[in-house]
Amino acid sequence: MPDVTLTTLQSLKQSGEKIAMLTCYDATFAHAASQAGVDVLLVGDSLGMVLQGHDSTLPVTVADMAYHVASVKRGNQGALILVDLPFMAYATTEQTLHNCATLMQAGAHMVKLEGAGWLAEPIRLLAERGIPACAHLGLTPQAVNILGGYKVQGRQDSQARQMRADAIALEQAGACMLLLECVPSSLAEEISQAVKIPVIGIGAGSATDGQVLVLHDMLGLALSGRSPKFVKNFMAGQDSIAAALSAYVQAVKAVTFPAAEHSFSA
Ligand code: KIV
Repeated sequence: MPDVTLTTLQSLKQSGEKIAMLTCYDATFAHAASQAGVDVLLVGDSLGMVLQGHDSTLPVTVADMAYHVASVKRGNQGALILVDLPFMAYATTEQTLHNCATLMQAGAHMVKLEGAGWLAEPIRLLAERGIPACAHLGLTPQAVNILGGYKVQGRQDSQARQMRADAIALEQAGACMLLLECVPSSLAEEISQAVKIPVIGIGAGSATDGQVLVLHDMLGLALSGRSPKFVKNFMAGQDSIAAALSAYVQAVKAVTFPAAEHSFSA
């Protein structure tokens, strides 16, 4: 078992201490980030963009994810390892169970699925079989072709109402964590208060129970040279990667990141 478990994350939410999550794809960074105090290492399918150079996460396979989870597991010093189920890896019940088994056996402690209320069915199935699941709501990059781009979600009243209802339904279905990407801060705050499970934000303001960033973005390594509004470069002013990782953890815990300039209004 890692030092950080689901119980740890629930206690952090209850005590009000923020959860620091960072994406991670290899053993060396897993070692450095977990040593710096990152609570959760997310082996995100963002690896399709930052490691493989694709223009979306859609080409990433379960085999890619399993390879990177196994690498992260070897370097990890006690963080909880969360892994993305990649595009279409949870399209059917059979695929969901088979692919979750592959990723849990590779070393993950929790799986993440992108979607909305329809995730209740796979999440219930996973919970019954002992696999903790995190539901990713808001901007869900695997659906970029439906969303028409990487845009803030939940600005319209009807969308916001639906996201709140989905969050509650997914908690009831057995989700252990929620991740909200690019949603107005006020909506993220309401959702975080409405559920008992930890809510992690990226571009969702400072009132969620924790934060996540893509490792390469927070180290100032954006491929395009242009970072999204919600990113802060933690390498700025630091003389080592270890110092930048510690600065990120401290800023999340002290709630100095994200600031208003990294957040979206309704
Ligand atoms: O794949 C990923 O890195 C993610 C984060 C953007 C939250 O899902």
